[in-house]
Amino acid sequence: MRMVDLIIKKREKQELTKEEISFIIEGFTNKSIPNYQMSAFLMAVYFNGMTDEESTNMALAMMNSGDVFDLSSIEGIKVDKHSTGGVGDKVSIVLGPLMAACGAKFAKMSGRGLGHTGGTLDKLESIKGFNIEMSEKDFIKQVNEIGLAIIGQSDNITPADKYIYALRDVTGTVPAIPLIASSIMSKKLASGANAICLDVKVGSGAFLETITEAKKLAELMVNIGNLAGRKMSAIITSMDEPLGNNIGNALEVKEAIEMLKGGGPEDLKIVVYEICKQLLIAAEITCEKEAEALLDEKISSGEAFNKLVEMVVAQGGDKEVILNPELLPTAKYKIPFIAYKSGFIEEMDTEQIGVAGMLLGAGRRTLDDEIDMAVGLEFVNKVGAYVNKDDVICYLHANSKNVEQSLKILQEAIKIGKNKRVLKLIEGVIK
Ligand code: URA
Repeated sequence: MRMVDLIIKKREKQELTKEEISFIIEGFTNKSIPNYQMSAFLMAVYFNGMTDEESTNMALAMMNSGDVFDLSSIEGIKVDKHSTGGVGDKVSIVLGPLMAACGAKFAKMSGRGLGHTGGTLDKLESIKGFNIEMSEKDFIKQVNEIGLAIIGQSDNITPADKYIYALRDVTGTVPAIPLIASSIMSKKLASGANAICLDVKVGSGAFLETITEAKKLAELMVNIGNLAGRKMSAIITSMDEPLGNNIGNALEVKEAIEMLKGGGPEDLKIVVYEICKQLLIAAEITCEKEAEALLDEKISSGEAFNKLVEMVVAQGGDKEVILNPELLPTAKYKIPFIAYKSGFIEEMDTEQIGVAGMLLGAGRRTLDDEIDMAVGLEFVNKVGAYVNKDDVICYLHANSKNVEQSLKILQEAIKIGKNKRVLKLIEGVIK
């Protein structure tokens, strides 16, 4: 087989076989296929697309380029979720304990935040002592014993995806739906769960801005997972405002704890419950009609909260921080951002709001940047709310970094006007 023939085949809009796709992925991973040929291939995919079968074969070939977790020694159905990246998204920290309290096994490998989006690992590390590194053996043992674990991805998971993503980043081929779908699904399939629910974000804080694109991506990822023998579902959720009220690592853990104690913001609860529902049905723990009552009961009984405590203790974290969230890191200053005129909050440029949080130190511009666990934003008003001039829209929890710059970004990111806009949080469920 010659790479040039496969590039020409894709250029001519023909379908590649499983063997041909494996040849490309293996060759690029072992460096026998050079960057210039892979770039040409990626651009051909960008313009001509791939069939679902090609995308599935690409995801599987990428999955097989590195470690593949075998979770078969964990009893019961292993469930996992994935978000395509958002602002204020602390869903995994609430959902994992809830699913474990319902009897499912939540074996999750998470990532770090980059740019305007946060990462679950960073958030959990705001809990003193919390350890996200674990051997496969200890990971399996913990999930068997307490029903959940959240750890970092092994360095050798889907190396093909790492190399291809780096090349896509510099060749203008990131926003190609078959490439995004195979990239995400290769990692999900390598993580070994039986049932997976994807949260595909759409809107100003997401990397897909239209519902049509988000639906296409969700449908393709669901198809890939199903063809690979997994029970799949996806929900499409709005990122036209941050999820929940808090952005920033310790602030988000605090909000997750509040929800597990029966409080917390309604929009966060809606997203957590919808994903839980899909996973509970897939795991055959309950039916659609009874899912909500089961989740309510696991929260009101304190079982879900106790699962968070158990996970934190099992992973070396300080239990007292969960029992007394005021022990989480706090910032020196709490600075109000106030409404510059009266009216309804019509729009929030959520990506820019994420950037404002990142500049305070809640996120990183590059993977080497250090994070300040204490800082972030706390919203008291979001889209649709009426504010009078000088009412507080949000508080900046800040130390000394970039306060003026963040305030300026917020001023431009938040539009106040005459129209009361009602956001639709869940745009669709795909199975
Ligand atoms: N996230 C991924 O993991 N891969 C992509 O291609 C895009 C977003």
